Amino acid sequence: MPRKLIAGNWKMNCLKAEGIALARELGVRYAQDSDPEYDLLVCPPFPLIDAVAQAIAGSGVMLGAQDCHPGEKGAHTGDVAAPMLADLGCTHVIVGHSERRQDHKELDLEVAEKAKAVVRAGMTPIICIGETEEQRDAGETLTVCARQIAGSVADGLSSDTLVIAYEPVWAIGTGRTPTTADVAEVHALIRAELSRKVTDAENVAILYGGSVKPGNAEELMHVPNVDGALVGGASLAADDFWSIAQSSR
Ligand code: PGA
Repeated sequence: MPRKLIAGNWKMNCLKAEGIALARELGVRYAQDSDPEYDLLVCPPFPLIDAVAQAIAGSGVMLGAQDCHPGEKGAHTGDVAAPMLADLGCTHVIVGHSERRQDHKELDLEVAEKAKAVVRAGMTPIICIGETEEQRDAGETLTVCARQIAGSVADGLSSDTLVIAYEPVWAIGTGRTPTTADVAEVHALIRAELSRKVTDAENVAILYGGSVKPGNAEELMHVPNVDGALVGGASLAADDFWSIAQSSR
């Protein structure tokens, strides 16, 4: 079984002082845990990455980013390359989050290219997939997720260079979550589809994301094939994020 991963996606939140305080608090708690049994990851916005790296140094908390450009360097104003993130100590990069697919019209092929760039830079991509409410209502959840796995997961990856996050778009930031049976069904489908792409699909961590809170984490984190969480809103409060992480044990 993959080791559990609890990842905080801070999105476009936190000024420097708040981000440092949050990261320090998590670092202190994680460092005091003698056998955490799970990995803890924080993904701050780009301008805070270096400061957060210093705040969590030596604590065991890992650092990630929320996006990157597929290229290595060059004339791409405003973009950030994967090697720059690795250089600051990032181990993970979220790619293909539904907010990027929506706001920046990212398509599966570009997501796959970003994932490859992340791996080339020595880090692990967290590739996000998930259906919209319309697609769920039309009974298309499994086909959409299978299509996104086929298109967004670059070939040649293995469990140590790949994390998947299943995030139903309609569950993100809404307080609504699928039933545990629905989560189990989609995660089983994802694992099966991954076996067409990677040789050790059984070891790939598949996270659930979308309105994970202290009140529902225990239940969600123990659904078969759920290997952790990608947490947005609740990752901005140390107590809530910590409580979610404890629920994964
Ligand atoms: P949420 O966001 O926990 O605020 O729903 C999750 C995500 O988008 O990663």
